[in-house]
Amino acid sequence: MHNRIIFTFYILHFTLALASAQPHDWENPAVLGINKLPYHATLQLPSKEKDCKEILSLNGTWKFYWSKDPESRPADFYKDDFDVTHWDDITVPGNWQLQGFGKPIYVNMQYPFRRDRPKVTSEPNKEWYAYDHRNPVGSYVTFVDVTKEMLLGKNLILHFGGVHSAMYVWMNGHKVGYSQNSMSPAEFDVTEYVREGRNKLAVEVYRWSDGSYLECQDMWRLSGIFRPVQLWVRPLVHIADYKVEAIPNADYTSAQVTADIAICNMGKKKARKVKTLFHIENSTLSSQISTLNPKDTTHIRLTYLIHNPKLWSAEKPNLYPFSIELGEEHFDYHVGVKRVECVGEVFKINGKNVKLRGVNRHDHHPVTGRYVDYDTYEQDIKLMKQANINFLRTSHYPDDPYLYELCDRWGIYVMDEANQESHGYGYANRVMGEDPDWREAHVDRAVSLVQRDKNHPCIIFWSLGNEGGVGPNMKAMRDAVVALDTIALPFCDTDRSQSDIYDDGYLTPDRLASEARRISDRPFMMREYAHAMGNSVGNFQEYWDVIYADSSICGAAIWDWVDQGLLKKANGIEYFAYGGDFGDQPNDGAFCINGLIGPDRVPHPHYYEVQHVYQPLQFVREANGFVRIINRDSFTDPSEYDITYDTITIDGECLLNVSACLKADKPWAKKGFAVASEQFVLTPYAFPALTPQRSSLNDFNGITIVGNSITSWIVDGHEMLAAPLEPYFWKPENDNQHAANFAQRTGVWREVADVSVNYTIINDHAVQVDMEYHPSGTEKPVIPKVGMRMRLPADFTDIEYFGRGPWENYPDRKRSAFLGQYKMSLSEYETEYIHPQDNSCRTDVRWFRIGSDRQMLYIKGLQPLCIRAWDYGEEDLEKAKHPHEIKRGQFVNLNIDMNVHGVGGVDTWGARTLPQYTIDGNKPYHYAFIMEWK
Ligand code: GAL
Ligand code: MG
Repeated sequence: MHNRIIFTFYILHFTLALASAQPHDWENPAVLGINKLPYHATLQLPSKEKDCKEILSLNGTWKFYWSKDPESRPADFYKDDFDVTHWDDITVPGNWQLQGFGKPIYVNMQYPFRRDRPKVTSEPNKEWYAYDHRNPVGSYVTFVDVTKEMLLGKNLILHFGGVHSAMYVWMNGHKVGYSQNSMSPAEFDVTEYVREGRNKLAVEVYRWSDGSYLECQDMWRLSGIFRPVQLWVRPLVHIADYKVEAIPNADYTSAQVTADIAICNMGKKKARKVKTLFHIENSTLSSQISTLNPKDTTHIRLTYLIHNPKLWSAEKPNLYPFSIELGEEHFDYHVGVKRVECVGEVFKINGKNVKLRGVNRHDHHPVTGRYVDYDTYEQDIKLMKQANINFLRTSHYPDDPYLYELCDRWGIYVMDEANQESHGYGYANRVMGEDPDWREAHVDRAVSLVQRDKNHPCIIFWSLGNEGGVGPNMKAMRDAVVALDTIALPFCDTDRSQSDIYDDGYLTPDRLASEARRISDRPFMMREYAHAMGNSVGNFQEYWDVIYADSSICGAAIWDWVDQGLLKKANGIEYFAYGGDFGDQPNDGAFCINGLIGPDRVPHPHYYEVQHVYQPLQFVREANGFVRIINRDSFTDPSEYDITYDTITIDGECLLNVSACLKADKPWAKKGFAVASEQFVLTPYAFPALTPQRSSLNDFNGITIVGNSITSWIVDGHEMLAAPLEPYFWKPENDNQHAANFAQRTGVWREVADVSVNYTIINDHAVQVDMEYHPSGTEKPVIPKVGMRMRLPADFTDIEYFGRGPWENYPDRKRSAFLGQYKMSLSEYETEYIHPQDNSCRTDVRWFRIGSDRQMLYIKGLQPLCIRAWDYGEEDLEKAKHPHEIKRGQFVNLNIDMNVHGVGGVDTWGARTLPQYTIDGNKPYHYAFIMEWK
C-alpha cells in the first residue's frame, strides 16, 4: 500500500514534469508554425485577383465564440458534430475587439501582458486587463461549399492574409496546422481534408503568443483574423513562387529581366511536359520541363532583355506588365527597372541622389482597426502623392499587398518593414537580439517579408523591424534578407552594423546637420522625425534646408501618417477614442494620435505644411524680380508642369502667387492640381499709422475702462463684451508643449504683469488699443503669447480676415498658408484636435472681422497680428479630454496677439519649440490695433 502511494506520487510527478516540459505552441519560440507552406510571392496583383479563377474568397460572416482565457475556450469546437448555430456572428476580416468582444488596448513600449518570455499568461498587475483575461481566445467557424470540380485533380490551399497573433486551423475536424507571425500570410494544404459539399473550417485564435514578444509596436493591440481568407483551388502542378527582376546595365541602355519560377507537382503522378510561358512586352518566352516528380518543386529561369528601358521611380512609375502561364494557371504582375545603391555616403536611385520625402504609416482604420479596405488604401496613397510624399515606411510590419501595388503604380518609394519589435525589452536590447532560442523567430519575420513582397518595384529598403534588439539575431535577419533579394537595401534602426543606411531619429535640424557631417561611411537618414502629434510640425522647412544642403542625407520620414483613433459610440455621441477610452489597462493615452491626417482621412493643418515643404519645385525671387525655380526632383523637368502665376491686390498689398500644375490627369490628382506653389509680396501692406495717443477716457459713449481692461462696451444699446478685453499672456499647451513642461515653465504667465494698456477713443464706435510690456526683472520665462483677449456674444460666428490661411498657422508653421482674404465660420476657423489643445491661430493678420447679422467687430492691426478664436474658453479647453467634452457656445473667445509661441516640431517627449519661435520674457514689447463696430 505504502509503495503504491509512492508510485502514484511518482507518476503524478512525472506527468506534471512532462506537462511543464511541453509548453504550448503559443508559448514556445521554437514553434513558429506547424504544416505551414513556405512563404512565397503574391502571385496575382491584388487589383486583378478577381480575374483569377483559382481564388475563392472566404470573407464574410463567420460564427464566433470569445473566451477570456484558454482554459474557458470551447476546446472541441472544431469537431464536425459541435453545434455553433447559437454562436455570435463576426465579420471576417476584422478585429474582434471592434465587434464587441473584449477590449482594444493601446500601449506604446510595454507588453500588455506580464513580461515573462516565452510565456504570455503569467500573473500581471491586478489592474491590467490581462489579469482577468489571461489570453483571450477567439474560436471561429465558417462553412465552405466545395463542388466536385474543385476536387478533381486539384490542390486546395487555405490562405490567411493576416491573423493576430497565433492560430490553429482545422478542416472537417482534422487538425491542419498552426501559425504565428501575424502580419504575414499563412497557408496550409487542405486537399486531403476537404470533401464535396459543406466543409467546416475552424480557426482558434490566441490574442497573445510568444510571437507577441516580437510584436510590441506602438499601436492598438488588436486580435483576430484581420486580413482576407481565401481558398485557392489550384492545379496539381502549379506555380509555387516566382521572382521577376529587371536589372539595368551600367548606363541604363538595357535591362536584364530574369524570371525565376518555382513549379511544384502536388499530385501523386509524375507530371510530363510541363510548359511555362512568360509574356512581357510583346514577347513570349517559354520553358518546358520534361518530367516533374510527385511532391517535387523545380525552378526554371527565363531571361529577356529590355532595350532602352523606361526606368521605374516614384516620379515616373514605369512598369512592365507581365504574365506567367502554366496550363490553366495564369498570373498577372509587373516589374520595374531600377537600381538602388549607396555610392560612398550618397544614396542613389537610378544614378541620382534622390531625396526621400517620407512618412511612416500604420495600417489603421477607425472602424475596422487593422483591417484596411482598398478604398482607404487608395485614399491614403492619393493623399500622400498630393502632399508630395515620395517615401513610405510601412511601420512597423508588412501591410496588405494592395498597398504595395498602389505604390508601384502611382509611385512611392517604400521601406518595407519586418514585423519585429521587442520594445518591451528596451530599445536596442540584447535580450532578444542575442538569444539563440529566438533567432529563428526573428529570421521567420525577415523571410516572410521578402518572400511575399520581393516583386514590388516600389521597395527600396527591407527594414529588419523597429525598436527591437541588437546582436546576432539582427545579423541573421539581414543575412536572410540579402540571400533572397539584392535590389532593395537592408536597413536596421537598432543595430547599425546591419544597416546600409545610418539612421537616427527625432534630431533637431541642427543636430541632423552635425550628425550627418560626422557620419561619413554611408548615407544618413531619419527613419522618424517631426513627431506630428496634435498641433505640431513646426520648423519643418528648417529640416529640409539641412537635408537639401547635404548630399549624404537621403531623407527622413515623418511620424506618422494617420491618427490611430478608434470610432467610439457612447450615449449617442461618436468620437475618436485613444488609449484608456475603453478602460484598457495599461494604456498610453493619446500618444497614438500623431497623424498628418485624422482617422477619417481629413488632413490636419500641418498636412498642408508638409505638402508645401515637400514640394518638388521651390521658387525663389531674385533681386532683379525674376523667379528662379529649384528642382528638387530627379527625373522630372519643370517644363513638365504648367507654371502659372497670378497677382492679387488686397487693400493695396500686391501679392504674386506662383504655381506648378499637372498638365494631365494622374491617378492621384486631376490636371491643374498644384504640386508646388509660392507667394511673394510685390507691394507690402501699409499698416495704419499710430494715432497720436490721448490719455485713456473712462465712460465714453458706453465704454467702461477699468485699469488695463475694457469691462463693458455698449453698442446700440447692447452689451458687446461677454468678458473684458484684457491683456492676456497665457495660452493652453499643445501636446508637444505639454511634454516639454510648458505649463510648469511658463505658468506664471497665467497672471500678466508689467503691462500697461492705453485706449484711445477714435469715435463712438472705434478705439485704438496700445499695449506695452516692460519686464521688471531679467529672469522671466518665455511668454506663451503677447496680447489681449476678450469674449464676445455667442452668435459672433461669421469670420472674414486678411492674413495667412485658410488653414491654421503659427509662427513656426506658416509657409504653406498664403496671405489672402478668407471667409469662414467660427467652426471652420477652429481646429478640432482629437486630444483637445491650443489651436486655430492665424498669423500675419492685417485685419479681422467677426460678428453676426446684427453686428460686426472689425480689428485692424497696426502691425501683423496673430488671432485665435474659439467658442469656448481656455479653461474649458484645458479640462476636456475629447472634443465633445468641451463646454461650448456661451461666448466667443477672441485672442488678439502680437505674437504666439510656436507649435514645436521635433518630438513629443521633451523637445522645445526652436528658440527663434519663442517670445523672450525679458524684452519689452509694444503692439497696437484698432477695434471698430460696424
Ligand atoms: C518611435 C517609434 C514609433 C512611435 C514613436 C512615438 O520611436 O518607432 O513606433 O512609438 O516613437 O510616437
Ligand atoms: Mg515602439
